[in-house]
Amino acid sequence: MSISKAAGSKIASPKSIEKRLRIERLVTVNEIVTFDTGSDVIQGLTQTPKTLPTRYLYDDRGSELFEQICELPEYYLTRTETKILQQYASEIARITGPCELVELGSGSSTKTRIILDAYQQLGYPMLYVPIDVSAGILESSARQLLADYPSLQVHALAGTYELALAKILPSELPSRLIGFIGSTLGNLTPQESDIFISQITNALQVGEYFLLGIDLQKPKHILEPAYDDSQGVTAAFNLNILEHLNQRFEGNFDTTQFEHWSFYNETENQIESYLRSLRSQSVELHALNLTVNFALGETIHTEISRKFDLKIIQQQLTARGLVPLNVWTDPNQWFGLLLCQRQA
Ligand code: TRP
Repeated sequence: MSISKAAGSKIASPKSIEKRLRIERLVTVNEIVTFDTGSDVIQGLTQTPKTLPTRYLYDDRGSELFEQICELPEYYLTRTETKILQQYASEIARITGPCELVELGSGSSTKTRIILDAYQQLGYPMLYVPIDVSAGILESSARQLLADYPSLQVHALAGTYELALAKILPSELPSRLIGFIGSTLGNLTPQESDIFISQITNALQVGEYFLLGIDLQKPKHILEPAYDDSQGVTAAFNLNILEHLNQRFEGNFDTTQFEHWSFYNETENQIESYLRSLRSQSVELHALNLTVNFALGETIHTEISRKFDLKIIQQQLTARGLVPLNVWTDPNQWFGLLLCQRQA
């Protein structure tokens, strides 16, 4: 009802935005326990070598900094993927037909607009289900999208991918496309990504679609600057994890006493990101009753960004029932976009 009413108007009124927006916060008891008690932080900082869960990179400030990373000259990933999407979005829309668009790790949803435009052009009904851990960014980008697309409905899910995929109901439209772009798959370990891909398969009915964007293997001299830019935005992004811990757990990390460090591990085909202690020091996280000692040069591992081989990833997807229908890349073969279909 609200769809047809809004469709004729150029500018969506705030009221019609309210009617087309639903935000659901997904939390389980287990989730609350592991996230807010910081047991995962204690575990990571008391083991050798030290490590921190990647999810702590993405508080509201971290998500903001990541948006800035996407615009850096060295960070070719976003630009390259955007170009591929622009080139093939209408083909994707033709293949999938009218379908619900689910996006994992939607962030600011900038690239999503390219797909939404293609669906709109074909006159398809538009239902967007963004999923993100940052509820703040989820709501603000949903409101912007609703203002710009008068016939769009948004059912946002705030929570982890795992929870969202487990809770998602069958699509209300003829089909579903789950989008996982930005090479976020590379931030999962091989074991984690195996489990994750199975969860995707389970969230799709036979015949439905999975759109995956992945960064491909390439020389070190192109990869490394993308994760250590000249303006220091990536450094600020990585260091922000310590600020996040300070806020959340009454900590006293001094971010001037740590530095961002990353390199391409050519054996594992992954960028590894760390924070390195600039002196011997001890840090307290009062809310966790935790004192952490650092030696000069000691590191905390924060993230991996795996780089993929197109043949191998296609085999892995196929083995999980997700058959690649189309594989698109840029002229340099730096980035890959795969449209897969769930098989019986
Ligand atoms: N998904 C992004 C990537 O792997 C995340 C990212 C970009 C990142 N730059 C980073 C994570 C630096 C840690 C440190 O490309």
